[in-house]
Amino acid sequence: MKDNIVVEAENIKKSFGDNVVIKDISFNLKELEHLAVMGRSGSGKSVLIKSLVGLIVPDSGKLNVLGENILDMDDDDIDVIRRQVGYLFQGGALYDSMTVERNMKFPLRRHPDKPSESEIKDLVDETLENVGLLETKKKYPSELSGGMKKRIALARTLIMRPKIMLYDEPTTGLDMITSAEISELILKMREEYDISSIIITHDVSCVELTSDRVIILGEGTSLAEGTFEELSNSEDKDIRSYFTMIHKKK
Ligand SMILES: Nc1ncnc2c1ncn2[C@@H]1O[C@H](COP(=O)(O)OP(=O)(O)OP(=O)(O)O)[C@@H](O)[C@H]1O
Ligand SMILES: [Mg+2]
Repeated sequence: MKDNIVVEAENIKKSFGDNVVIKDISFNLKELEHLAVMGRSGSGKSVLIKSLVGLIVPDSGKLNVLGENILDMDDDDIDVIRRQVGYLFQGGALYDSMTVERNMKFPLRRHPDKPSESEIKDLVDETLENVGLLETKKKYPSELSGGMKKRIALARTLIMRPKIMLYDEPTTGLDMITSAEISELILKMREEYDISSIIITHDVSCVELTSDRVIILGEGTSLAEGTFEELSNSEDKDIRSYFTMIHKKK
């Protein structure tokens, strides 16, 4: 991997029929960095991170993840990369019919180097402890609050010990205090597990708390890139407006 760059995207383009979603985007993510991606609804944020795990294939461009060119890979090789990239989906659903414990065990049991049952139990306990929710082990998702569900969904992703985390709107729909707790947790997870992260969010405080660098997507490209300080004080009022209520979703 060159210069500890864990994701390198160059001139990515993606259309769906006539809908040109990504005209031309280039960016990189460094090891242990937290990159926030902002942009209006429909600007292609989710499409962009889905392409990092092969869920969407760009029409052209170069895409290296953990040093591998993933646009040139067969499904088995992409799976190896995918297991090292955790993805907290927008809306990050848990399986309602399973307890928290079974939700947590689910991805591990499908892993090719499946750990033993006692190792699985230890991993579940340790990861739940880390998100502060060990006591919910025997509960069902319906018995948990929205913030708790997000934390469990995060723990279920972290149990695979990913090198990269992709967070798609981790705080949307949560109150301010719970959102701040999730942001703190994102920071704690980097300390705990040495994770590099891309955080898609409309939540300005989440960007302020978690990001080292921010990119703003719009019109199929990257409109601006810089630190939270730089962009939120930008000379350009359109860029500044992403950090005010105008562009906040919901
Ligand atoms: N699988 C797909 N097939 C066709 N069009 C798609 C597909 N996925 C996304 N799109 C289109 O791509 C555009 C960008 O979608 P995307 O989900 O990336 O937006 P977003 O920036 O994540 O928005 P939001 O903030 O609302 O989540 C939209 O116009 C959407 O309709
Ligand atoms: Mg989205």
